[in-house]
Order: sequence, then C-alpha cells, then structure tokens
Amino acid sequence: MASIWIILLFITYMEPVFSATVVEDLANLHPPPDFNTTITSNCLKNPSLRYCGSSPMDLDVIFKFTIVASHLCNESKNPNCVETFPKIDLRNRPKIAPLYLSFTFFWKYCPLTVISIDLSNNSLKGTFPIDALLCTQVQALDFSHNVLTGDVPIQSLSPLTNLTVLNLSYNHFSEAKISDSRFLKRFDPSCFFQSGIIPSHHRYKIKAIMLLLGFPLVVVFMVGCLWWLCFRRPDYLPGLLRNKHKFTPAMLKVATNGFSKKNILGKGEGFVTYRGVLRDGTQVRVETYLDSKNSREKCHRKYVEECKVLVQLCHKNLVLVYGWCSNRHMRALVTEWIGRVSVDMWLSETSPSWKHRFKVLVGVLKALCYLQDQWPEICCDVKTSSVLLRENGEPLIARFRVGDDSNTKKIHRFGVFALEMITYRTLRDEFEGNEAGFVEYVKMVYPGKLQKVIDEKMKLTENTLDQARQTIYIGLMCADHQTCRQLSLGQIYNMITKVYSRIRCTNVST
Ligand SMILES: *[C@@H]1O[C@H](CO)[C@@H](O)[C@H](O)[C@H]1NC(C)=O
Ligand SMILES: *[C@@H]1O[C@H](CO)[C@@H](O)[C@H](O)[C@H]1NC(C)=O
Ligand SMILES: *[C@@H]1O[C@H](CO)[C@@H](O)[C@H](O)[C@H]1NC(C)=O
Ligand SMILES: *[C@@H]1O[C@H](CO)[C@@H](O)[C@H](O)[C@H]1NC(C)=O
Ligand SMILES: *[C@@H]1O[C@H](CO)[C@@H](O)[C@H](O)[C@H]1NC(C)=O
Repeated sequence: MASIWIILLFITYMEPVFSATVVEDLANLHPPPDFNTTITSNCLKNPSLRYCGSSPMDLDVIFKFTIVASHLCNESKNPNCVETFPKIDLRNRPKIAPLYLSFTFFWKYCPLTVISIDLSNNSLKGTFPIDALLCTQVQALDFSHNVLTGDVPIQSLSPLTNLTVLNLSYNHFSEAKISDSRFLKRFDPSCFFQSGIIPSHHRYKIKAIMLLLGFPLVVVFMVGCLWWLCFRRPDYLPGLLRNKHKFTPAMLKVATNGFSKKNILGKGEGFVTYRGVLRDGTQVRVETYLDSKNSREKCHRKYVEECKVLVQLCHKNLVLVYGWCSNRHMRALVTEWIGRVSVDMWLSETSPSWKHRFKVLVGVLKALCYLQDQWPEICCDVKTSSVLLRENGEPLIARFRVGDDSNTKKIHRFGVFALEMITYRTLRDEFEGNEAGFVEYVKMVYPGKLQKVIDEKMKLTENTLDQARQTIYIGLMCADHQTCRQLSLGQIYNMITKVYSRIRCTNVST
C-alpha cells in the first residue's frame, strides 16, 4: 500500500504535466534521480510488490508502470487514487480499454490492491486478454459484451483462486464444455450466456437424448396406447368414439375373469356360455363359440353381419343382444344377463302351476311370431333347456342366429316345446335324445290316457285339464311333421289365445 501511495504521491507531485494523456506522459516523463531509492525502500517495506521480484530492476519500466497505474486509477473512478486502487473499471470505454490492455508492463506488475477488473462492453476483438490474468488476486472479472474469440484460457484462469465473479457473456469464444473444466464448473451457467461456451454439456446431452429418443418413445407410447384403446380395450374410450356393440377378446376376458371356470353357465354343442361383468358394471351373458381357426376366418364377416341384425331385435321375450366379438381368435355374442334359470330347471325345481306354464308358452309363441314377422331370417333355439325365465315369469328366447329357418321347423319345435311344458319330467328323460319317440308316445296316449303323461304336480282341475288337453292337441299338431306344414304361426297363435281366453274366464269365475 505504501508503495502505491508513494508512487502516486510522486505523480501528483508533477500535477501540471499530469493533465496530458497517458501516451503523452509515457513519452515525456522520465524517472527522477531518486527513483531508485524510492523503489528500493518500497520493496524493503513490502517485498510482495510485483516489481520487486525482478533483478536487476528495470527502473524505466517500473516508472512507466507507475504512470499507467495512476492514469488507470483515475479512469476507473477510484475515489482516492492516492491511497488505494481496488478496481479497474473500463466499462463502456471502447476508446481507451484496448490501449490500457496493450501496456503489458502494467499488467506484469499489476497492483496487488486491485480486486475487480471490468472490461465489458468495449468491442474488444481478438483472443482472450490474457495479460489481465496476471492480476491473480482479483475477485471479479467482467469481459462481457465484447467480440472475443478463440479458446477461453482455462490454464491461465485456474491460478485465480480468489475469483468469485466471472462474466464472459456475449462473446464469440470457441465452443468449450463447462462440464469438462473443473474451473468453469465453479461458476453459474449465466456467466457464459451467449459466450460460445456451452453452459452445460450435460443439459444439452439430455435435451438431445430427449429429442432423439424421447420423442420417438412418446410417439411409440401414444401409438401403443391408441392401439390398446382401439383394439383391446375400447371400453375405456368415450361412448361416442366407439361402436358400443363391438367387444374385443380382451374386454370379454376381463369381464369373465379370464373365462374362469367359475363363470361358466353352461356348455352346449360348440358353445360355452359365461357370466360376465362389463367395465361399467353391467352384468352380461357371454356365449363363445368353439370353432376351428379356419372356419372362424372364413365366416368372420358373415358373423358380424349376422350380429348386426341380432342387436336390432327388440321383444320382451327375446334376450337383448348387446353386441359381438369376432376376430381371428374368438367369436362370441354378448347378451343381457337374465340369470341362470332355464325353463327346464324351473319345471323340475318349482313345479309351477298350469297358468304359469301357459304364460311361458304364450310368451315363446309371441317371440316366434315377432321373429316371423320382422326377422324371418333368424332362427332360434326353442328348447326347455335354452329358454330362460325372468323373475317375473316371462320366458326369454336366449339363443338365436341368422340363417335359414323354415317356418315348419319353427312350428315343429314349438310343438315339442309345448308338449315338454305339460308332460312330466321323467318321461322326457326316458326319451332323452329321441324327440320323435317322445312325440310318438304322447300321440299314442292322446286323448284317452293323457293322465299318463301330464305332470301331476300341476294339480289340474277339470277345467284346466281340458285346457291342457287342448294345448297338447295343438302341440301334437305342431310337432307332427305332416300337419305342421299346413299351419302358420298366426293360426297357432289364434288357437292358443282361444285356450288363453278360457283361462281368463276360469280365473274370473274362480
Ligand atoms: C539502484 O541502487 C542500487 C543500490 O541501492 C544499486 O545497486 C543499483 O545499481 C542502482 N540502479 C540503478 C539503475 O541505478
Ligand atoms: C482524474 O480525476 C479527477 C477527479 O476525479 C479529474 O478531475 C481529472 O480530470 C482526472 N484526470 C484524468 C487524466 O482523467
Ligand atoms: C454498451 O455501450 C453502449 C455505448 O457505448 C451503450 O449504449 C450500451 O447500453 C452498453 N451496453 C451495456 C450492456 O452496458
Ligand atoms: C487470495 O486472497 C488471500 C487472502 O486475501 C491471499 O492471501 C491470497 O494470496 C489470494 N490469492 C491469490 C492467488 O492472489
Ligand atoms: C454478465 O454480464 C451481462 C451483461 O453485462 C449481464 O446481463 C449478466 O447478468 C452478467 N452475469 C453475471 C453472472 O454477472
């Protein structure tokens, strides 16, 4: 400190000349005769002064250094250039900053009191002003807003251990990776904003990876989701976006708990029915068809066409068809859930009255008439084992398909159904699989020995026995392959309703 004070004192001493520029002073001023003594005593007091190390000391250069130092101190707006000299501030001084930078001797002897150097916004060209780094004690260095090029001299910056503020923003340095340099990593990335130096190699890498890998991954993920939604679980799509009649194997698998054995309702020739619960909580009956892969592929389109017809059926005695599933792996029909009670079970387990049996018969006949009228191409399965019962006693035809079903076949089947409704169970068991034999037997006992076949559990009165007899008569007519040809469902309906009106009459009279 003392040395500077002495030097500056010495300069101030020459006040009149000092008003000249630094260049003029450097050219005109010469060391006074006692300069050697002054410097020597300075160095004795403070040996750390930079110019003290050189031997022999070049007095001329040291003198020039003092001239530049005093000018620079003044230019840097230091408050008191006589005592201390803490900052070199040449911000926004493009005219003089390069000049001061060119005085290599000044920087070589850089005053130890300088702790901050600001050379920003000076349009400095060329490579990094490495001479400034000779002031190794500085704590702040601002070179921002210049046009510096080339490499950042990390080797020369590293000795600046007290440096806490570094600003290289807005320059044109060659690319360097902050992450590669231990020194640069000490500083905030904002110090290198638009400096040419890549703030964080790592961050860029992540961004690049995100773009290169992440984007395709996101696309793949979205496509995957879409595929999953569209082809596997469309039930997760909003109702508007999907065909509510179309079910996928994945949906049915979930609904039936993986087609678990517990959910099997029944098996038949080429089909298995399951109970299931859809995602929205609707209980359904799922009928899956066990057909070979080849035939499945062949009839896929035809099957869908058929199902599109079936979902339009609307009759209180026909099971409501919700939709279908058809692809390479499976074919299935999804219908409303009615329960497990088939007419067969109902007959053997609850011994229903004649009136109830008759109601079932009429219901089935109504459904047949509806199909005959509206959908003649649909054939259905009218068997006591496949017709289901609602809790209110209404029968429901639960199995049907599109295909040629002749009228006579329908009538014949209804006839057998009617006979089965009235005869006792064990008789049907005797003729299991021999429908013709069963019909023949009933025909044989009709009318005289009817008691032999009628289910006693109905507890018929004289009146109702008569009705049952008439119904058996109608049933036999329908079941007979010859007579059924001459009948229409309409005629049978008329005959049955006549019996029905009598039931109503007896109801009123009793
Ligand atoms: C300066 O003084 C020292 C001794 O004080 C002497 O050795 C040296 O030669 C002198 N240098 C010049 C350039 O006069
Ligand atoms: C030095 O500073 C003083 C006051 O701060 C000013 O009057 C003077 O012009 C300055 N000298 C130079 C050479 O800039
Ligand atoms: C740089 O200096 C110019 C004038 O030389 C000035 O207009 C501009 O605001 C300065 N920019 C900064 C960032 O200091
Ligand atoms: C940093 O500051 C300390 C204490 O002020 C000082 O002793 C040390 O020499 C300085 N480092 C450099 C490289 O100047
Ligand atoms: C560096 O300098 C620029 C311009 O002068 C400034 O906007 C920025 O905030 C500075 N950054 C730091 C870390 O001081």
